[in-house]
Amino acid sequence: MSGNLVVLPTPDALVEHVASWLTERARSSSGAFRLVLSGGHTPAPLYARLASSPWRDRFPWHRTDFYWGDERCVSADDPESNSGMARRQLLAHVPVAPDHVHPIPGEMAPPGAAAAYEQTLRDVYGAPALDPARPLFDVTLLGLGEDGHTASLFPGTEALAERARWVTTVRPEGKTPRVTLTYPALESSRCVAFLVSGESKASILRRVRGGASDAPAARLRPVGEVVWFVDRAAAGEGERS
Ligand code: 6PG
Repeated sequence: MSGNLVVLPTPDALVEHVASWLTERARSSSGAFRLVLSGGHTPAPLYARLASSPWRDRFPWHRTDFYWGDERCVSADDPESNSGMARRQLLAHVPVAPDHVHPIPGEMAPPGAAAAYEQTLRDVYGAPALDPARPLFDVTLLGLGEDGHTASLFPGTEALAERARWVTTVRPEGKTPRVTLTYPALESSRCVAFLVSGESKASILRRVRGGASDAPAARLRPVGEVVWFVDRAAAGEGERS
């Protein structure tokens, strides 16, 4: 898994850098800016930072549409909900119209939720097949699990083999059932940006960037750019003051 590696000295520096990068990326785009948010813990401080000055005042909220790379099959007010976290940290605090926010309906039964979200994406895209020259998304934020998963593409799941559907369901062992974008949908992006923080991710980050084929994140082949925003601890450099 190639891509440009950007190492920041601390978690706070990582958040600040990505908030600035994402804001300028959105401002430099023309027309609708389609942004895919990731879940988990890592992006929460980034979302909170975007909701504060100066990024809150600079970001083009009025022409940004928010999507998710995956969602746990829970209600939006469940602490596990990825869209719930993004609302608490970001969307409740910035001027985004409700019709610009497209959460995966975690409260629905998984198969119906996946089918509904796939239709949402197909309606937005307006064509039956994803064209590498016309990506579905502008920026896709992704995290990295210690087992090499990204979004909810977990090792050993059937979701890894799904190349026709854009959205599917996953029942990761010992975890809440989830709905996830598949490789084709995640890869259809002008820029996939991974956010990886903390010493616990150093080993898997090294393996994924080394192309470990048993790590789902290493098998992603985005049509656009790939950038890895990591802190020193995740880069295995140890956090220096
Ligand atoms: C989720 C995310 C998932 C996450 C990784 C890393 O729904 O949990 O989509 O892919 O990005 O598990 O999670 P942390 O940031 O909490 O380490």
